[in-house]
Amino acid sequence: MQRPPAKGYSLSQRFLHWTVALLIFFNLLFPDGMNVWHRLMRRGGVPTPEQVASANIHAYVGIAILLLAVVRLGLRFINGAPAEAAEEPAIFRLAAKLAHAGLYILIFAMPLTGIAAYYFGINPAGSFHADILKIILWALIAAHLAGALVHQFYWKTNALRRMTLG
Ligand code: HEM
Ligand code: HEM
Repeated sequence: MQRPPAKGYSLSQRFLHWTVALLIFFNLLFPDGMNVWHRLMRRGGVPTPEQVASANIHAYVGIAILLLAVVRLGLRFINGAPAEAAEEPAIFRLAAKLAHAGLYILIFAMPLTGIAAYYFGINPAGSFHADILKIILWALIAAHLAGALVHQFYWKTNALRRMTLG
């Protein structure tokens, strides 16, 4: 049985959306500590305690993203999500759905491949993480941001309000 869509995103869903977004931007923009550590390990070097600490910041932020992603998905399961704006063409609604599904997949896939490389030494997972998933994540974020602006200002469906003030 299909249940009726939620009236809106709950306060915790909105709070988690922006917290996760912030943490993701942090890891996307400042991965240098982790990169230095990884390069050193591949060459058989010994990292200094400071280098380990900066790599750990990337790892812990990423693990926090993974845990919050689990909570988010749980909340979506319990609270549901509001229906898409009916006034938009079906193709836009489908595009938004696909982008959201892709972002959900990536907030799991990024940390899991990172963990595989960092804690289990699986280098191909690290390359997938750093070379491929990173690009897909940036592309999805760009599409998501552009989509949010089109919803808000072209279709005037107040999408930004749904994810901020509610
Ligand atoms: C950077 C990482 C980001 C991730 C991983 C992300 C992920 C998501 C996901 C998965 C949803 C769907 C939520 C659900 O239905 O359960 C969503 C909704 C939304 N996001 Fe983001 N987002 C990010 C950044 C942004 C940014 C920068 C904006 C700024 C415009 C934004 C605006 C929105 C809005 C307005 C919605 C609600 C769409 C609706 O009304 O259904 N997001 N986001
Ligand atoms: C959503 C969470 C994460 C994001 C957005 C992210 C993002 C990034 C980025 C942008 C890079 C640098 C790629 C480049 O060279 O330009 C990177 C590298 C790396 N990250 Fe993450 N990361 C996340 C989570 C994690 C976690 C949880 C771990 C480990 C516990 C991790 C381990 C690594 C490793 C080992 C590398 C180096 C891989 C290589 O060079 O082959 N990451 N990450």
